Amino acid sequence: MANRRLAPASEQPASFAFSSENAEWAKGQIEKYPEGRQASAVIPLLWKAQEQNGGWLPQKAIEAVAAELGMPHIRVLEVATFYTMFALEPVGRFWIQLCGTVPCDSCGARELKGYLQDRLGPPGHVSADGNFSWLEVECLGACCNAPMAQINQDYYEDLTPDLLGKLMDDLAAGRPVTIGSQVGRTSSEPKGGADTLTDETLFDGSRVGAWRKRFEDQAAKSDDADGKAEAASSEQRAANDPKPAKPDSGRAAEKPPADAPAQRAASGEIPVKSGDAADAADPKESTAQPNKPAPSAPEIIAKAEAAGAEAGTQSDLPRNEPPPQPAVSGASPDAAAPKPKKPSVAKTPAAPKTEEN
Ligand code: FES
Repeated sequence: MANRRLAPASEQPASFAFSSENAEWAKGQIEKYPEGRQASAVIPLLWKAQEQNGGWLPQKAIEAVAAELGMPHIRVLEVATFYTMFALEPVGRFWIQLCGTVPCDSCGARELKGYLQDRLGPPGHVSADGNFSWLEVECLGACCNAPMAQINQDYYEDLTPDLLGKLMDDLAAGRPVTIGSQVGRTSSEPKGGADTLTDETLFDGSRVGAWRKRFEDQAAKSDDADGKAEAASSEQRAANDPKPAKPDSGRAAEKPPADAPAQRAASGEIPVKSGDAADAADPKESTAQPNKPAPSAPEIIAKAEAAGAEAGTQSDLPRNEPPPQPAVSGASPDAAAPKPKKPSVAKTPAAPKTEEN
């Protein structure tokens, strides 16, 4: 487990202040949080301070971040000493964080640790050439490709002592290196290569097109079969039961009129008799009274009021005034409508007393 102590006083700088560019950046980070929550920017600010200080976090930088955020020094120290992403001692040009948690350990991290111990010495010390320092850390979240190590900002996976040694040589020499798996594995697929989902038609769209066509064909076939079956069923029903399809329940019986012109015509009689015209012209059968003039509007009103007075319903309100509005509930106790009577509840007859009672 990593030693999480501050570097000795001899290695601590006398002061720390953000550069003007980083101070501006820090200000932007702090503004992301609401008033009173500026402490939430502690990790970004510590990270920037570490970056500015050559990859490690001196005590003065921790104090500067605490002052910037208005936090007690000890609170920022707690954060800085908890997360191994903050180096508390000077580091080499390439800082190796080797994962030693169970998945990596069971895949060979112990051998890697031995290799680093042999090549660089104990963790937390910079190599003589200033190129490397290393630290064992907890899971870095790349367990699928264990064992692995983070070197500066990048992950290197599927390591063996030989692969790690070559990687370190290339880094020190400034040669290009491969980030990620060192055995050519793509992402976190199986070590021998992908053995599932290997059919290219899964990804080129043709598989989807084939499935869609299959569904469309099935649907078309099904529609055709359903249509034929429905037609055959209707024909069969019509042959067995020639009744009209409309249901007669709830309808008035539709009987043909006893003596209608159409029936007379059908039975060979004269459709319209002379009596029909006479019936139609009978003034007693008509509601119109041609010799009597239609009453005027004032006459109709006077007649209606007289009928209302006779029935005792004539209004004594002055004309041309709106009728009174119903009282609003709670507006005036005087105007309140009479309370409805409570419905009487039938009393349950008392249970007859028994000898036990
Ligand atoms: S255990 Fe090593 S990355 Fe998770």
